[in-house]
Amino acid sequence: MIEDKERMISEVKEKITKLDNLKDVNDLKVLYLGKKGPVNDLTSKLKDLPVEEKKSFGMMLNELKNELNSIFDTKITELETKELNKKLESEQIDITLPSTKIPIGSPSILEKVIEECEEVFMSMGYDVYDGPEIEEDRFNFELLGLPKGHPARDAQDTFYVKGDELLMRSHTSPVQARVMLSKEGKEPIRMICPGKAYRRDDDDATHSHNFTQIEGLLVDKDIKLSDLKGTITIISKHLFGKDTETRFRPSYYQFTEPSVEMDISCFNCKGSGCNICKNTGWITIGGAGVVHYDVLKGCGYDPKVWSGFAFGLGAERCAMLKYGINDIRTFYNTDLRETKVFDRKENI
Ligand code: PHE
Repeated sequence: MIEDKERMISEVKEKITKLDNLKDVNDLKVLYLGKKGPVNDLTSKLKDLPVEEKKSFGMMLNELKNELNSIFDTKITELETKELNKKLESEQIDITLPSTKIPIGSPSILEKVIEECEEVFMSMGYDVYDGPEIEEDRFNFELLGLPKGHPARDAQDTFYVKGDELLMRSHTSPVQARVMLSKEGKEPIRMICPGKAYRRDDDDATHSHNFTQIEGLLVDKDIKLSDLKGTITIISKHLFGKDTETRFRPSYYQFTEPSVEMDISCFNCKGSGCNICKNTGWITIGGAGVVHYDVLKGCGYDPKVWSGFAFGLGAERCAMLKYGINDIRTFYNTDLRETKVFDRKENI
């Protein structure tokens, strides 16, 4: 038996050194330790041996099995490590290769103009409000002096969501009514509301069916048109430079009386005339006025006690002027080649 044992071990040792893959090693293992292998043959002999030999034979058999198993295990581990190292080597990352480009965004300049306005107005004690873009006819028109059938509604034709009562707001002015009603005529108001508005317009370089306004409303005691002028002058100087002048022209809105168009002096030609201001020296940035008596009353503020002003700035208009963009569709057509260029105009 000892000879058998030694022979088998040296046989296996010799054979295994020549093997270089796991499959062959496993085959060899089955050959020796499998059911039909020599180790099993020896095991089956055990039962026929006389009792006094059984013990030493059994011990030897165990030693043989252990020894063989350890030879196979060592070889298997060795080959597995080799294979893993080979794999790691072939999968090595080349850190000198150029990386995949990750596009990096930047804030939209429209948002930046809005944020700039918010900052200036907040520094003057205004709150920033939000209002629904799907609006009730009551807030969008009726409470603002535009009853059903009023001809001025035509200029603000919009998209209707349900019957003729729910619509996409045609301006941000309904937020004026919402805020006044929420305060129940009891406290002064200073608010701005930047947001989207919609009109049934044919899109071109200066018109878009979807656009952005920055609405403002101040309600307090003894408020006059001159307060509006001062406020607009501050924001214009901030947005377009400290030399910017402000001019009001008479206009007409149903919810303000008097009403004005707000112009700023052309920052490009300083008033001498150029293609940006169409040779007039002035550029219109929005509409405004003193809050109408009926609007205050309809929204719960006693017009004998309270007075106020309101304005609506065209946000795209301001951004277009500030950043020299000549097509409003740039903000909405999601062409990254265009927006990327404009959105990166950080320091103008
Ligand atoms: N809502 C008006 C418009 O969209 C602008 C405006 C706002 C006018 C506030 C006066 C007061 O044309």
